[in-house]
Amino acid sequence: MPESRNLDNGQRLFSVKDLPSSVLIEDAHKDREGNVHVLFQPENHSSVFSQKWLRENCYELNSHFEDRSEKQKKLWQKDSFDNGLPFISYESMRSDDTSKVLALRSLRDSGFFVLNDVPTQDGQVLKVISELGFTRETNYGALFEVRTEINPNNLAYTNLGLGSHTDNPYRDPVPTVQLLHCLESSTKGGDSILVDGFKAASILRDESKENFLTLTSSWINYRFTDSKTDLRSRVPMIELNDNNEIIKVRYNNRSIDTIKVPKDKMRSFYKAYRHWSEVIERDELKIQFRLSEGSLMLFDNTRVMHARTKFSKTGKRHLQGAYTDLDGLYSLLNTLEGKNK
Ligand SMILES: [Fe+2]
Repeated sequence: MPESRNLDNGQRLFSVKDLPSSVLIEDAHKDREGNVHVLFQPENHSSVFSQKWLRENCYELNSHFEDRSEKQKKLWQKDSFDNGLPFISYESMRSDDTSKVLALRSLRDSGFFVLNDVPTQDGQVLKVISELGFTRETNYGALFEVRTEINPNNLAYTNLGLGSHTDNPYRDPVPTVQLLHCLESSTKGGDSILVDGFKAASILRDESKENFLTLTSSWINYRFTDSKTDLRSRVPMIELNDNNEIIKVRYNNRSIDTIKVPKDKMRSFYKAYRHWSEVIERDELKIQFRLSEGSLMLFDNTRVMHARTKFSKTGKRHLQGAYTDLDGLYSLLNTLEGKNK
């Protein structure tokens, strides 16, 4: 072990090509503590494995790491939150690790949480990110303003309703977490809607395996352009892992580019796309709530779709948004749960 890994950080010190192509085990025995000692030839290299390590790393038990799959999540729809939505006090999340763990578990399992009583100060959304991870800057800046603008470069900056979508599928990699912080809210309408995209994809699979497979195997283009920007991606709407489990969804009607799938697949693509759109718009999948002043919602942008109802031109609605990434937030959760020990 000391020869093969750095003692301080546990990182491996040799590459696979340093190993002989044929390796033999000359001797293997268990000591009194249960550790297994293995002598490898021709290198005459001795390794010691604890029972715990062997169990955790046994590939026959298939206990592989996977924290993004639908199998690791609690899929939800409108009636899943009879005990209330995951609203958490910002002050308690800041001062108490137990609340922070609850918030991050809610993000991991349900794909979102909402913080209450966040100070309505300019740039506060970036402070919240700094307490959890790191800001992912984009062409919109470190943060972006969501309020009505004259000649907006994005429909988000109008008073129109927005259908359910994930943000920025035209980026590769996509920002995996979005935060929206409400600074002012005196308009009529403008409610927030969330839909569990994994649930919507699983319903599509239940109703039509064929349509589901079409969307997992059709790679399509998303695009965003303005005078200074031209962002493009080529990705599937529903992404699976090696066990055919859903791990990511991308859905954004506003930024889907011309569909370029093979001619003989075009009809089946549109059939599947229409079917999934219809599932996503079902009322029984939507949770709707008002993001009041000082509330901040944080959601997994690879899973949870967001939407808003249209709002009046009178009154003010001002949100500040920003992006961060799941890996940093999961890292914090794993550390708080002691998984790095
Ligand atoms: Fe959005």
